[in-house]
Amino acid sequence: MLSIPKAHPYPITKLVWSDGSPVRVNELEANKAYIFNYLFKNTPNFLINLGDEKGNPIRIEVTLYTAMPPLAEESIVFRVKDYVKESIPGFGSPYTVNPHGSIVAYSAICQHFGCPYLAINFYAPGRSVPLARSKIVERGGVIYCVCHGGAYDPYRGAAILLDPPQRPLPFVILREENEELYAVNIVGATIFGKFCNTCGEEGDLIGSISVVKEA
Ligand code: FES
Repeated sequence: MLSIPKAHPYPITKLVWSDGSPVRVNELEANKAYIFNYLFKNTPNFLINLGDEKGNPIRIEVTLYTAMPPLAEESIVFRVKDYVKESIPGFGSPYTVNPHGSIVAYSAICQHFGCPYLAINFYAPGRSVPLARSKIVERGGVIYCVCHGGAYDPYRGAAILLDPPQRPLPFVILREENEELYAVNIVGATIFGKFCNTCGEEGDLIGSISVVKEA
């Protein structure tokens, strides 16, 4: 008989450095990726303060729509002056992706065959992508998976830049309190291989803190 894995509430998880001190938003270097696990102990995510080629943070806005369009449908993008406004296929209500406008967190497990970080990695603007098979990614500013060359756009809600992935990366909703960061939810697609994002053994949930490391 098919057993349905138990779903749990999303934990509110404080992001901390390895010495236990809280990660503060102004400590995250632009164009540098960090890694933390959420909402399970073995599901990694990128934490990135997105910047331009000169290292200036870029404000990102993401709006989620409640309807799930066909899997291959591209995200709709509006470029408004100096920031990027994005609509992502997914569930939920309108949502700004991060408190300071430039910090985002995405699953670091590829939506194609599930290759995890380090196979999938963030390449800052100007940082070349090894073995890039397309000009789209050769100048960096992408999340790229070396397993089969899939690529996602971190400035547009991890929308697909290069197949074979068919879905954007799920992203983690962050909350800022007193300049400290908390992970509170995951939206968009489900984490690769998960029946639902919170399905699993209770003991595997990350709990109240998650350690952030440089990628
Ligand atoms: S697993 Fe990432 S592109 Fe195939």
